[in-house]
Amino acid sequence: MGFRKDFLWGGAIAAHQAEGAWNEGGKGVSIADVMTAGSNGVARRITNGVIDGEDYPNHVGIDFYHHYKEDLALMAEMGFKAFRTSIAWTRIFPNGDDEQPNEEGLKFYDDLFDEMHRLGIEPIVTLSHFEMPYHLAEKYNGFMDRRCIDFFVKYAKVCFERYKGKVKYWMTFNEINNQAELISMGAHHLAQEGAVLVKEGDDIEYMMYKSAHHELVASALAVKAAHEIDPDAKVGCMIGMNAVYPATCNPEDVLNAQQAMHQKYWYVEVHARGHYPKHLLKKFERKGYDNFILPEDEKALAEGCVDYIGFSYYMSYATKYTGRFGRSFDFSEEDYVRNTYLKASDWGWQIDPVGLRWCLNWFNDRFELPMMIVENGFGAYDKYIDDNDEYVVDDQYRIDYLAAHIAAMKEAVDYDGVDLLGYTMWAPIDIVSASTGEYDKRYGFIYVNYNNAHEGDFSRAKKKSFYWYKHVIETNGEDL
Ligand code: BG6
Repeated sequence: MGFRKDFLWGGAIAAHQAEGAWNEGGKGVSIADVMTAGSNGVARRITNGVIDGEDYPNHVGIDFYHHYKEDLALMAEMGFKAFRTSIAWTRIFPNGDDEQPNEEGLKFYDDLFDEMHRLGIEPIVTLSHFEMPYHLAEKYNGFMDRRCIDFFVKYAKVCFERYKGKVKYWMTFNEINNQAELISMGAHHLAQEGAVLVKEGDDIEYMMYKSAHHELVASALAVKAAHEIDPDAKVGCMIGMNAVYPATCNPEDVLNAQQAMHQKYWYVEVHARGHYPKHLLKKFERKGYDNFILPEDEKALAEGCVDYIGFSYYMSYATKYTGRFGRSFDFSEEDYVRNTYLKASDWGWQIDPVGLRWCLNWFNDRFELPMMIVENGFGAYDKYIDDNDEYVVDDQYRIDYLAAHIAAMKEAVDYDGVDLLGYTMWAPIDIVSASTGEYDKRYGFIYVNYNNAHEGDFSRAKKKSFYWYKHVIETNGEDL
């Protein structure tokens, strides 16, 4: 009973939210480098290139690029077995369509992974975490253009060859399914995910399906290449998982929730089964969206199924049938309702540990693949205290959140028999928020002295949760 002996306890970040050094070491401009700071409830803007005078928090991140040794030492002190980060594509191919990779960028990740191994920490690496080269957006409109499949596969192969023996666990596209959330967040997500920029009058839904298809083909080709280059490599997908519940037991609400799950999670069916689910092919037929799936794509998808399912889990949703789409169900954010049984964070994210067990079962029932929870965490406004020698933030709320989620995943292992490889919480150290660009939305066990107003010296300090997580790892999750 309990978690496997070699369970991968750790934490996760992404290059663009932490590294900073946006124009050092030969790095090119990524899509994250043209996103301004938003705030709680205020969306980030995507600017036309880097514009003087705008506030781009990802340019600085938490300066992980220069602090990574210090940061990894703190993670090792907590007993981390694994650490998930992404490779910034623009450190390797600054424009995305360059002939040759940038040696300085490759060397940076060599050093990073070597340092992890020196500390006994297994790297888990995402190839594309919202940080595609901006040049690919400008010149090709990102994954709307099939040529981006080749650019991605070339980049992936360079990484697999270079880091063979150093990196075993890979993931292709971070939260590839976020882009299903059309209407309000659609344009933003298309840009973050596939460097697709939307103009007024564009059919954003068509663009989402077409560019996501190209990403899925690119992912499948990368999986195949990884296995050829390194038979020990394990390549997973990365799904942003938020269960959608029916708001009541009215059968219309239940059907509504099932259809919402179809709309948000068909991506994992393609990743794991190697073909499209029938309900989506029917939708393409209805909407005339079936012109971008080529016969060679079907072959690629079938030959590039993932080895494991990586997913993030922060919250759950609930939905109520309104009848506004007839029977075809095209959801947007308006179709979600508050779940009155749940409390929410200051950013409105509904806290639902039980839902994590539900999600693990949802994946397991369908795919019977090993799984890794590669993100789960609590963004909060932390209060700094300087009169306590042991820690600088008393973040009991974060401990409570994480403990309840770990308890739920333990139930899924003990009672439901899910094959869980590891848990990398988000994020062991405070970083820039992906959705709002804030510094003040903090997730870490490690406090970083920097805030939304750009005050602070980037010094690191321990929060109360630091000691708690260390103990969780020491006891292999037995004592929460
Ligand atoms: C996930 C992303 O959506 O959630 C991360 O993979 C992100 O990049 C995390 O940081 C938490 O979201 P946010 O907006 O609070 O940073």
